[in-house]
Amino acid sequence: MSSVVDILLWGVLPYVVLLVVIGGTIWRYKYDQFGWTTRSSQLYESRLLRIGSPLFHFGILAVLVGHIVGLIIPKSWTDAVGMSEHLYHIVALSTGTFAGIGTFVGLALLIYRRRKTGPVFMATTNNDKMMYFMLVVTLIAGLATTIISVFDHSVPNYRETVSPWFRSIWILQPDVGAMAAAGLSFKVHVLFAFALFMAWPFTRLVHAFTAPLHYLFRPYIVYRSRDRVTRSGSVPVRRGWDPVGTQDRDRGVRRGGSTRREKAPSGR
Ligand code: HEM
Repeated sequence: MSSVVDILLWGVLPYVVLLVVIGGTIWRYKYDQFGWTTRSSQLYESRLLRIGSPLFHFGILAVLVGHIVGLIIPKSWTDAVGMSEHLYHIVALSTGTFAGIGTFVGLALLIYRRRKTGPVFMATTNNDKMMYFMLVVTLIAGLATTIISVFDHSVPNYRETVSPWFRSIWILQPDVGAMAAAGLSFKVHVLFAFALFMAWPFTRLVHAFTAPLHYLFRPYIVYRSRDRVTRSGSVPVRRGWDPVGTQDRDRGVRRGGSTRREKAPSGR
């Protein structure tokens, strides 16, 4: 029998988190598109950024892939293909710890750079500080779950507690009992992750939801072409690239009271 606290934490809270993430992202997109940015500080300092940023970003991508595998693939599937639980944990432990430590070192470098580079520190808001704090505690709590499970064998296997609960959320039948049976370190980690997810849409982290598709198709040098109408002489307008996701090229431009369309640029 699940307690009221368990029902609230593992049966209700996940949906509150989802609502805040989806609603908050839509709200931010509608009302703050100009603020939808990483607020890059590369201009102020790039040496440490060049090391810290890829380390953090590739690390967190690897952590994400590890979570998808660990939380989504049921234990029965890996059993069915003959993968022993021991082998599974060795693989998960080595790759997960490697990715987690890489992410943590990358994040530590980024925070160090932010604190030590004057202009970068000046451009750091309270919102950023809160975001870094949440990232750090979620990462440390995640790494702690792994370390604790290695040394304390009494901690229930997360593939029989956290993972079934995680999957049950998406079919709208939260298995509160499964998560209630998980070890304390997992519960703390998930609650920190929930707080991070709820803050996500309201911080610089929203940039992660941006898919810069037009980067794949844009020309090497991006510039605005001259207007076809004001173009003088007999030089023909050459075919250029068709922008994807940069509709500003194709919008109606009001000049002298009439609305026209701009032509695509002429060169690469
Ligand atoms: C609801 C969301 C989440 C759940 C259910 C969850 C669950 C778990 C579980 C079960 C583990 C243990 C994996 C193992 O020992 O093999 C773990 C580890 C870890 N988690 Fe999470 N996690 C969540 C969100 C996050 C987030 C948002 C971050 C990062 C900001 C994160 C970072 C980590 C790290 C660094 C580890 C250590 C080892 C690894 O990389 O897998 N987790 N998490």
